[in-house]
Amino acid sequence: MPSLLFTNIKLLANTRSENQLLRGKALAELPCIENAYLIIEDEHIAQYGTMDELSSVSHKPQTVDDIAGQMILPAWCDSHTHLVFAASRENEFIDKIKGASYADIAAKGGGILNSAKKLNETTEDALFDLAWKRLEEVSRMGTGAIEIKSGYGLTTDGELKMLRVIKRLKERSHLSIKATFLGAHTYPAGYKEDHQGYIDCIINEMLPVIAKEKLADYIDVFCETGFFSPVETETICRAGKSYGLKPKLHVNQLNSIGGIEKGINLKAISLDHLETMTIDDIERISSSDSIGTLLPSAAFFLRMPFQPARALIDAGAAIALATDYNPGSSPSGNMNLVIAMSCIQMKMLPEEAINAATINGAYAMELQQELGSITIGKKANIILTKPVPSLAYIPYSFGSDLIDKVMIRGKWL
Ligand code: NIG
Ligand code: FE
Repeated sequence: MPSLLFTNIKLLANTRSENQLLRGKALAELPCIENAYLIIEDEHIAQYGTMDELSSVSHKPQTVDDIAGQMILPAWCDSHTHLVFAASRENEFIDKIKGASYADIAAKGGGILNSAKKLNETTEDALFDLAWKRLEEVSRMGTGAIEIKSGYGLTTDGELKMLRVIKRLKERSHLSIKATFLGAHTYPAGYKEDHQGYIDCIINEMLPVIAKEKLADYIDVFCETGFFSPVETETICRAGKSYGLKPKLHVNQLNSIGGIEKGINLKAISLDHLETMTIDDIERISSSDSIGTLLPSAAFFLRMPFQPARALIDAGAAIALATDYNPGSSPSGNMNLVIAMSCIQMKMLPEEAINAATINGAYAMELQQELGSITIGKKANIILTKPVPSLAYIPYSFGSDLIDKVMIRGKWL
């Protein structure tokens, strides 16, 4: 049985014997061991403790890696991405620099519709190759688990093609991957005046095939002015739930229109974005079981106000952090940058950000039994940092690459 012992770990972060979704004050408690050892057996975490305790370990692995000065953290759990897409959209990026808004671009057939046109013209194999490269890129940046959405098909064929690409990624990658059906990302041009027609297509054409081929774990809707109303969101989610797909929803990105209340009633696993929040919205989500997933790089890229992380945490919310990796609002899948932004712009403490990007991110994908912390029996998905003076140095030195190596399921990338 291949096993490996790390010794003299400067700091082993997020060591937990039990799983707990972290909300409010608990987010600031990040259990760590200084001067630690860690044993990996096959693809799992087998044992850990202080260097002083190592002498009492009976069967020590023969392979020893002395990593004095370096830290080990659980790999990032990125619980919200749109990583499968056909093409980048830097032309719209220029339009936005010149003054166009996200809504202006969408209204002119750009945005999601632009991505959908290109996706429908691209083969499944070509999409797979593009997505595979992105997956390799984000894993090198420390991501070990990721949620990926459809939503750039907007036709039955296009949506199924995207979900089949995600299924192939799941089969081939060592990363843990969850698939979310986002057929309700926007209304395709032909259905602008016929919302019910497109909703019928989602419910009667797409969902039955998705369920039969087991192509999705969750259902998502872009609940937003000019996209899907809260009532339409409910109809689509109830249909998804009848096939066993729990909701993870896009709400309160541009407007507060009741998506939070709807999502909580639908028992959404997570309610994501949250740039535009009323005091009521903050209170509601904080006293609910839904995780609030904050996507600061989307707020940054669209020059929107950052999510009110402090108010949410102070009100007792369970918060996760994710990249929203997509060509329109966050062309980056870099969780390190997301963590830095959450500390710099949203005043999250480094401990809160790391918890939100690991154990709470795992909860937002229902992967907490196998990932998200340094826990005996969990998968050996770890980040080995370069020598760093402290944990806070990681978000502080934003933009620096502080990752030495990444291990996924016991194997170095
Ligand atoms: O999460 N807001 C909706 N969907 C994506 C952006 C989609 C796009 O612009 O391509 C998001 O920001
Ligand atoms: Fe998104």
